[in-house]
Amino acid sequence: MSSSISTIAVTGGAGFIGSNFVHFLFKQADFKGIVVNIDKLTYAGNLENLVEIEKKHAGKRYFFKKADICDPEKVSAVFTKYAVDTVVNFAAESHVDRSIYGPKEFVHTNIIGTFTLLEAAKESWGDRQDVLFHHVSTDEVFGSLGESDFFYETTSYDPRSPYSASKAASDHLVSAYFHTYHLPVTISNCSNNYGPYHFPEKLIPLMILNMLEEKPLPVYGDGKNIRDWLFVEDHCSAIYAILKKGRHGETYNIGGENEWTNIDLVNRLCETMAKKNNKPKDHYKKLITYVNDRPGHDRRYAINCDKIKNELSWKRSVTFEEGLDRTVTWYLANSQWIEHVRNGEYHKWLDKNYQGR
Ligand code: NAD
Ligand code: TYD
Repeated sequence: MSSSISTIAVTGGAGFIGSNFVHFLFKQADFKGIVVNIDKLTYAGNLENLVEIEKKHAGKRYFFKKADICDPEKVSAVFTKYAVDTVVNFAAESHVDRSIYGPKEFVHTNIIGTFTLLEAAKESWGDRQDVLFHHVSTDEVFGSLGESDFFYETTSYDPRSPYSASKAASDHLVSAYFHTYHLPVTISNCSNNYGPYHFPEKLIPLMILNMLEEKPLPVYGDGKNIRDWLFVEDHCSAIYAILKKGRHGETYNIGGENEWTNIDLVNRLCETMAKKNNKPKDHYKKLITYVNDRPGHDRRYAINCDKIKNELSWKRSVTFEEGLDRTVTWYLANSQWIEHVRNGEYHKWLDKNYQGR
C-alpha cells in the first residue's frame, strides 16, 4: 500500500463524487480508517448525501469539517487534529457552463485551494513517504478530440474552458510538489461520471429532473458532441485502487470506454424513464429541444485507460444499461432530495442565467 490510510481527508465530500466515495469507503472490508470530510458547502455541497454515514459513523469513524480548502489555518488544523495521512482532493468548482459565466471562483477554489492543501500536506508530513495526496482531475484538461484517437496519460494538456484550465493548473501544481518536494502524490484524470447524488446542473440528472416535470430537454448545438460515461462507483473503485497500489508521481486515466453522442444518450435516457414510468417508448423524446451551443464546446472526449487496467488490475464493473437504470431508479426514489435541491439557491441562479437558452 502506498498509504496506510489511517485517516483520510476527503475534500468536497458533500458533492456528487465525494459523497459517493465516502459511501464506497465504508463498504470496503479492508478499510478500517477514519474519514474527515472537508467541505465548504457551496451550492453543490449537500450533507443530505451523507445522512446514512452520519447516522452510523459520526464521531467515531466519520467527521465533518465545514471549511474552505483555500483557508490555510482551517486546513492545517484538520491535518493536526486528525493526524491525516491520506488526502483525496475532490473539492472544486466543477461545472463548465458556470465557469464560462463566472470563472473567478474556479481559479480561486481549483488552483488556490489545491495549492493550500498541498502546502498543508507538505508542512504536516515533512519527508514522510507513507502518506499520499491523491488529486482528482478530469479528462477535460486534454482538450477536444477529433473522430478518432484517445486521451493517454502522455497526451499534452490543452484545456479550453475556464473550468478545465483551472483543473489543469491544479494538476500541474500537484505534479510540481512531487518533483520539487518529493511529496507523495498521485493524480487521476477521469471521464464524465453519472449516478446517484449528481447535482442536476449536469446533463444526465438535469434531463431526468426535466422529464419528471415534462419540461424541455435542452440539447446544446447539434447534439453530436461525444462524452465517455462512467458510473460513479467505478470511479470510486479506481481511486481506491490508486490509494492502495498507485505509484507516487504517476497519473492514471480512468474512463468508461463508453462513448455516446449527447443526443443518443438523451434518447436512451428518455426510453429508460418511459419504461420506469410505464409511458410509451417515445413519450419523453418529444421534449427534446435543441438550444444554442455552449461557447468553446469540446467536441469529443475519449479515454484510454489501459494503464490503470494493466498496472492496478482495475476494471469498470457497471454496464451502461445497469448504470442508467440504477441512476433513474435512484432519482425516482428520492423525491425529497430533488425537492430540496430544486428549492436551493442554485436554481434561482439557473433561472436567471439561462434565459433564452
Ligand atoms: P461537485 O460540484 O458535485 O462537488 C464539489 C464539492 O466541493 C461540493 O461539495 C462543494 O461544496 C465542495 N467545494 C467547492 N468549493 C470548495 C472549497 N473552496 N472548499 C471546500 N469545498 C469546496 O463536483 P463533482 O462532480 O463531485 O466533482 C468532484 C471532483 O471530481 C472535481 O474535482 C471534478 O473536477 C472532478 N471530476 C468530476 C467529473 C464529473 O463527471 N463530475 C469527472 C472527472 C473529474
Ligand atoms: P456536462 O454534464 O455539463 O459535462 P461536461 O461539460 O463536463 O462534459 O455536459 C455533458 C455534455 O452534455 C456536454 O457535451 C454538454 C452537453 N449538455 C447539453 O447538451 N445540455 C445540457 O443542458 C447540459 C447541462 C449539457
